[in-house]
Amino acid sequence: MKRVYLLSSLFALLICAQAKPVELSNKEAAHEKTVFLTGAAGFIGSNFLKYMFDKYPNYNFIVLDILTYAGSLDNIPHYIQESPRFQFVYGSVTNPFLVDSIMAQSDLVVHFAAESHVTRSIYDDATFFDTDVMGTRVMMASLVKHAKKVERFIHISTSEVLGTAEDESQLMDENHPINPRTPYAAAKAGADRLVYAYWCTFDIPALIIRPFNNYGPQQHLEKFIPRAITAAIKGEAIKVHGDGSQERDWVHTLDVARALDAALHCKDFNKIKNQVIHIGSGKATSILDIATIIKNHFNLPPESLVFTNDRPGQVARHISSTQKSKELLGWEPIISLEDGLKEVIEWYKTHPARWKKMEPMKEVPVRSPLGIEVKY
Ligand SMILES: NC(=O)c1ccc[n+]([C@@H]2O[C@H](COP(=O)([O-])OP(=O)(O)OC[C@H]3O[C@@H](n4cnc5c(N)ncnc54)[C@H](O)[C@@H]3O)[C@@H](O)[C@H]2O)c1
Repeated sequence: MKRVYLLSSLFALLICAQAKPVELSNKEAAHEKTVFLTGAAGFIGSNFLKYMFDKYPNYNFIVLDILTYAGSLDNIPHYIQESPRFQFVYGSVTNPFLVDSIMAQSDLVVHFAAESHVTRSIYDDATFFDTDVMGTRVMMASLVKHAKKVERFIHISTSEVLGTAEDESQLMDENHPINPRTPYAAAKAGADRLVYAYWCTFDIPALIIRPFNNYGPQQHLEKFIPRAITAAIKGEAIKVHGDGSQERDWVHTLDVARALDAALHCKDFNKIKNQVIHIGSGKATSILDIATIIKNHFNLPPESLVFTNDRPGQVARHISSTQKSKELLGWEPIISLEDGLKEVIEWYKTHPARWKKMEPMKEVPVRSPLGIEVKY
């Protein structure tokens, strides 16, 4: 791995000039591509990187990540970090020089980088708009410049942009209104619509994917499933916000990786270009049900579930339509929530050193209008 540490954008330009894909034989080069991933030291991006790196031995990968509290090189296996097919570039998606120098050599791009935690956006929202909106603007401006070279660009949006399901009896399809309920969701909605505006204006080769709630190995302890599992491992109470009736559509991060792969490789890109596609399971499971599955897995008594104040801006129900993802990508999730949760529990049981260092960050203080501080 060429690990690159940058102090200024000027430095960034100089160093990134060296960021050349490795030479491959003629046969291999026929399929060679350079894949640019932003934010792939985080949860979903690192799982996607591993999936793609193992599946496509002729592809080179460039990861741009500023390694916030949520990103870590520990998420990227050593055999990838050591490979000549991999480069890590330390820097921000808000840096146009840096982004441009990588975009110029890329065939496929997936833009994961974002501030991603809803509660943190209530506590301090400024970085969410800087990274999620302005960072996406930098990516878009660069894509316009390099649209002849870049074959496909996937913007990772989120189901949070939709707000809560308008009609509780209906699945949320791609025409569902956009009603973000938190600063995180508003920032991601800004980015989602910014990508839409760029393709209307510049006809860029972009596609918007809106994953629903991801879970899987390597997720930060601030998110509900890892927080609940690690509390159970330690024999501590599992905290549930409100009455736990909030429903989410849970999708395993490897299923999301398969969906993104399908979008990057489907034969007829014109069929999916400039589309929004929801990635979910079509099933909703409440937070209380997830907490109960985890509690039962560890044989904990009923009193180990404790209920706290509900988080401001809570979404009551998320459930994805799967029709468009089936039609356009031929994709459906294959990992059941039951199997996926068992695997994830096992991962946290066997990787204590990885998650223990996140413990001080698992709760975030939020101040109510009355000045009362609650930790979520
Ligand atoms: N986790 C979910 O359930 C979920 C669901 C739907 C969509 N998403 C979206 O998927 C994407 C990835 O989510 P995640 O859960 O992996 O997030 P994460 O917080 O685990 O990782 C985000 C990564 O982005 C990096 N990053 C942050 N600011 C950056 C910047 N300015 N420049 C470069 N890198 C930067 C961080 O260092 C980190 O590695 C995000 O866009 C998020 O909005 C997440």
